[in-house]
Amino acid sequence: MAPMKKITVSTLRKMKLEGQKIVMLTAYDAPTAALASQCGIDLLLVGDSLGMAVLGYDSTLPVTMEDCLHHCKAVRRGAPDAFIVGDMPFMSCHTSERDALLNAARFIQEAKCDAVKIEGDIALAPTVERMVHAGIPVMGHVGLLPQHIKTAGGYRIAGKTEDTAARVIADAKAMEEAGAFAVVLECVPAELGKRVTEELSIPTIGIGAGADCSGQVQVVHDILGLFEGFKPKHAKRYADLAAEMRKVFTAYSDEVRNGTFPTDEHSF
Ligand code: KIV
Repeated sequence: MAPMKKITVSTLRKMKLEGQKIVMLTAYDAPTAALASQCGIDLLLVGDSLGMAVLGYDSTLPVTMEDCLHHCKAVRRGAPDAFIVGDMPFMSCHTSERDALLNAARFIQEAKCDAVKIEGDIALAPTVERMVHAGIPVMGHVGLLPQHIKTAGGYRIAGKTEDTAARVIADAKAMEEAGAFAVVLECVPAELGKRVTEELSIPTIGIGAGADCSGQVQVVHDILGLFEGFKPKHAKRYADLAAEMRKVFTAYSDEVRNGTFPTDEHSF
């Protein structure tokens, strides 16, 4: 088990400079956050993927500020010393700069997050700059934007053509110039992931963006094999916990029904 270390935005910049990979994983509840943190995961992301992973929605669009804050607070209780990034949900940054700042501040003040993540392109750079100016660390998120599936016509790999690749680079650079401390690159060709990583001084955290990013992020339910609805190409299943859970639930119900549970060992 890796030793616990207190991560800050400076640590992350140093890790990129030293070529040390950054490991980020989503977490939505206290016990998972505690285990991930004990195992030396550098950053915990309370992603709006919680909509699909735990709330039963078919996209991230229905996820609200209250949902995100509720889960961020649970993750903080489970991992008091972890660097926790709260994901700003659909529309939480777009109604006005004032709303965006107030929403971002709630992640820091109420949920005790260390930073917020904002999905969006160059148009959001002035908002990011205001947040950073106010003292809120911001992680950008460019490339495939799950909050934009309605306008994009679905989940599409970003940056496959010269024009769209240039747009991804411009979006990432705009985040860096606005003061973001890192940027998530989602579902872009590996070559583009490498190029963005080389052109930025801040770390890139890839998900489906190749091995050359400064770090990687995965959805915890995907790596555990707990989310069976869909397996993204970028995810690796390290376990099949869904199958394990089915075995446990079946064994438990069989034992209750046939009288082999509880025994004296479980009785008072
Ligand atoms: O919501 C989320 O989990 C994310 C990651 C996939 C980067 O945004």
